[in-house]
Amino acid sequence: MCGVFGAISNKGDVSKLIVQGIAALSYRGYDSSGVCLLTDHLYIKKTLGPAQNLPTNLPFAPLGIGHSRWATHGACTLENAHPHTSGNLAIVHNGIIQNYAEIKSQLIALGYTFSSQTDSEVIAHLFSELLKENKPITALKKMQALLKGRYAFLAVTQNHPDKIFALSNDLSLAIGVSSDGVCISSDLLGLQHCHSFKKINNNPFELSIALPLDNLIPMPLQEKNALSTPQKDITLHEIHQQPQLINNLITEELLSLIKNIPHCSQIMLIACGSSYHCALVFKNWLLSIGIYAIVEVASELKTSPLPPLQQALVIAISQSGETADTLVAMKKALSLRPQHSVAITNSPTSALAELCDTVLYINCGPEIGVASTKAVTAQMLVLYSLYLHLAKQPITIPKALSKAAQDTLALAEIQQHAEKITHFSHILCLGKNKMLPIAKELALKLKELTYIHSEAIPAGELKHGPLALIDSSVLCIVLDDGSCSQTLTSLSEIQARNGPVLYISPKSGLKVPCVDGDLNIITINIACQLLSYYTAKALGRSIDMPRNLAKSVTVE
Ligand code: M6R
Repeated sequence: MCGVFGAISNKGDVSKLIVQGIAALSYRGYDSSGVCLLTDHLYIKKTLGPAQNLPTNLPFAPLGIGHSRWATHGACTLENAHPHTSGNLAIVHNGIIQNYAEIKSQLIALGYTFSSQTDSEVIAHLFSELLKENKPITALKKMQALLKGRYAFLAVTQNHPDKIFALSNDLSLAIGVSSDGVCISSDLLGLQHCHSFKKINNNPFELSIALPLDNLIPMPLQEKNALSTPQKDITLHEIHQQPQLINNLITEELLSLIKNIPHCSQIMLIACGSSYHCALVFKNWLLSIGIYAIVEVASELKTSPLPPLQQALVIAISQSGETADTLVAMKKALSLRPQHSVAITNSPTSALAELCDTVLYINCGPEIGVASTKAVTAQMLVLYSLYLHLAKQPITIPKALSKAAQDTLALAEIQQHAEKITHFSHILCLGKNKMLPIAKELALKLKELTYIHSEAIPAGELKHGPLALIDSSVLCIVLDDGSCSQTLTSLSEIQARNGPVLYISPKSGLKVPCVDGDLNIITINIACQLLSYYTAKALGRSIDMPRNLAKSVTVE
């Protein structure tokens, strides 16, 4: 689940472009970064951490490749950082080579030595071996037959110093063209400076400045806009973009797409992480109009049996549209030929978007911070619009919601509560009905941003076991949108045992500005995002790039 990037310049130097490219892709993982520049030799530089840690004085080179890593095989060390080399050849790799151990033994028997614990290094030695007897494209075709797994890699060799070789299987690669030359990248975020692009999935490819590129597509505005994303405090910036996105989200185009989605007798939703929590919110809205939807975590669905889906509306939610678990689960569901499929995504050019009958674009601008914040709000509001369509009601978002979100962001008490949260090592997040998915989302945000152990439980489940945990070291955060008095019973049960509590509701405790019964969850969730953010800040965490994580999880 890494980012690969390559560039060939028609003007001279690519070193800065490659560092920028892998920095843009570092949302896919940032355990280490590295570049290979073709000077009069293979110049390799690697560093631990994101691309920003690479030196600024890289040598002048007209061609090169780069990598941003999320470790799967082998620890986060310089030996395991990419590029990996074999003689005068270097590669960068995204994905997993499932049969690497078997290929590695065969290559060792042929005399190759390995200097990393990665699966990726077999690609370098195998390509090197096959190039002894074959032209590059033939060698790549032979590799395609030998390598198992979902992968994408780039290779350069001094024997062909004007070319970048590429091969992918089930993972994306896109070529971009700019006035400075050509680039190849794991996705369009690496190609922000390009005017046009095309995807080259699953075919051996040879990129050179001289080759004519046909079927190019103009670069979507969203990717160009990514250039304006700030480099620091990205997560806070994205949290603060929410009032504006609420106003801009529902376009005529989106409305017409939603209105054409058929009313099916069965509804299934597939997603991971925060997107899964959005699906749970939708499930609760549908329950209120007597529709029962199946909501599954994609990684579970992949390996469990499915019900018949011929009459179903199947919806996959993924901010990135590139989450491997969601893609694999969705492909499995689509193989049962559902009546209609929908992708809800922030990337209309993503692999998920390509799979589905209807693509509902959440249109919230690039989300770079690893913690999903503005995309969660956008996904919930698109789902709310779909819920209104299925409920045969007019699709509108109350005008007051944006103002309520703005007022929530201005709540000064949030920072004071965050200071107090830093003293706890365990947090229970409680919610009931509609608030339970928000409690789950809060627990996830607290985990990933603050590294404090936090779990969500349905408020009513407290008395069935978790109450035994209550003491001065465990904080309970109780979320209440005012729709269910039983939440207050759970609150009393904790207070009766002197357990520390933070109560978040429209009317008391941490008071969150709210607008309307169904959408109170939006502002309460924004308050929870800020609470997690400020707690993480007080603890000095790496908020935009939390440890061990990546923005887009493109491995299963
Ligand atoms: O791009 P996706 O929406 O498919 O991503 C799914 C999850 O990986 C993602 O929501 C993750 O849980 C976030 N980092 C949570 O903030």
